[in-house]
Amino acid sequence: MSAAPKTIPGAANTPFAFTAENQVEAERIFAKYPVARARSAILPLLDLAQRQEGWVSRAVVEAVASMTKVAPIMVWEVATFYTMYNLEPIGRFHVEVCTNLPCWLRGSEDVVRAARDVFGVEIGQTSADGLVTLSQAECLGACVNAPMLQIGDDYYEDLDYDRAKALFTAMKQGRHVNGGSQAGRRCSAPMGDLTSLTTDPTTPEGGRWTAESSPAAGGGADGPR
Ligand code: FES
Repeated sequence: MSAAPKTIPGAANTPFAFTAENQVEAERIFAKYPVARARSAILPLLDLAQRQEGWVSRAVVEAVASMTKVAPIMVWEVATFYTMYNLEPIGRFHVEVCTNLPCWLRGSEDVVRAARDVFGVEIGQTSADGLVTLSQAECLGACVNAPMLQIGDDYYEDLDYDRAKALFTAMKQGRHVNGGSQAGRRCSAPMGDLTSLTTDPTTPEGGRWTAESSPAAGGGADGPR
């Protein structure tokens, strides 16, 4: 959940129209729902518009309301309920740091401190160069690799101060960093040796799994060793 207050923007309006490519996509989305359930398209249409604009402006709401044939207030009800919609312009990257209990216990405050040190922002602020907006998020469902954060569609996991600082510094320098564990862990496999299901019960020999080859790690293609 963003720490920034979610207010309906005031008088300022920003013209909005889907790009030609997104208009085709919007019509594809709209056509997926029965006419009587057109309002079901509000969520994906808002998401599409936000991916194009970076945020949901009043003009976006009115466009989506027009397309789904509902009153704009119904679209506002959706846009203000879900924290994934930005109701104000944000930076080029939206850095959402999970500070919920498991991530907090594992050091999310160090991740926020790293963002503060690199970008010079507090939670709810956008950096002076417009590169990032820093937000606080509730549990993002990756507690097993806590602490973690989300940037766009990517998760960055197993962070500490130094790893978070390295990630943020790379962003500032325009370098891409792949998502996933920043500690080299494979998915949610143990950091060290396996502690359970160390053998494959489906083989007579009871072959031994490793952190890399176990199905839980997304491995298994090579089978147990
Ligand atoms: S508490 Fe951070 S991902 Fe669940």
